[in-house]
Amino acid sequence: MTTPTDIAGLLDLTGKVAIVTGAASGMGRATAGYFAAAGAGVVVADMNEAGAEAVAADIRATGAKALAVTVDISDEAAIVRMMEKTVAEFGGIDILVNNAATQHRALLEDTTVEYWDRVQAINLRGPFLCLREAAKAMRAQGRGGVIVNVASTSAVHPVMRGLTAYASSKAGVTALTRNAALELADAGIRVNAVLPGGVMTEGGMSSRGTVPEGRAIQMPPLGRIGVPEDIAALILFLAGTGASYITGQTFVADGGFLIG
Ligand SMILES: NC(=O)c1ccc[n+]([C@@H]2O[C@H](COP(=O)([O-])OP(=O)(O)OC[C@H]3O[C@@H](n4cnc5c(N)ncnc54)[C@H](O)[C@@H]3O)[C@@H](O)[C@H]2O)c1
Repeated sequence: MTTPTDIAGLLDLTGKVAIVTGAASGMGRATAGYFAAAGAGVVVADMNEAGAEAVAADIRATGAKALAVTVDISDEAAIVRMMEKTVAEFGGIDILVNNAATQHRALLEDTTVEYWDRVQAINLRGPFLCLREAAKAMRAQGRGGVIVNVASTSAVHPVMRGLTAYASSKAGVTALTRNAALELADAGIRVNAVLPGGVMTEGGMSSRGTVPEGRAIQMPPLGRIGVPEDIAALILFLAGTGASYITGQTFVADGGFLIG
């Protein structure tokens, strides 16, 4: 039974080991910082080597544990190596946040097979590979685990032009989430997804192509554009014991954009 003195414990990750992909920037960086502040050791995984090293150094400066790993999440061998490195360095893996993605845009009729395949390889195959390798390690450890996939509101509603390949990959992430949750529940591994709306990040709201902006640049009902910490807070909750009865679900954090 939860008493008022247990409340902070719902977000406590002391002794946990977390991998956050795309942690050199934006929501991944904010999530890595929140996890470290909550007591976790954090693997800062990103293809941006200098960025990942800088975030890991910032976390270590707070007294928390962090390891930068340079990885392209679409590369199967690199993901296997990342998982091995994590277990070797921290002794296990408790939490995976599948956050890295490409957010470039292209209109449907300009979308080449090469572009389509690259988007799916990063945004859908990447999370699948990370999830599969983390699940194997978590099941072998026998102490459960948590996986949070970062999808997008575009997975459920067309929010702007030029996102056909991207939104399709993110819809795949929501299906990946539900199916993985079903298969991994017997090992005590929870799998959920967060669906951010427009969030001010280096890759998110900055220039990502030449497609004219659509509805997404309108202000959401809550009257402001999101910041990375809005999403990191939701991910932190899903990673903690407060969410221990939640799996296979998708959570929108968009300032009310989808209802506007
Ligand atoms: N910002 C938004 O408005 C918004 C909205 C909905 C969903 N999202 C999703 O949220 C997540 C984080 O977005 P953000 O805006 O913080 O992004 P960002 O561009 O600021 O950061 C993404 C990070 O992922 C890394 N990355 C990209 N491709 C990679 C690869 N192949 N392998 C390893 N690392 C790679 C980049 O180097 C970067 O550090 C993404 O999944 C994105 O699709 C963002």
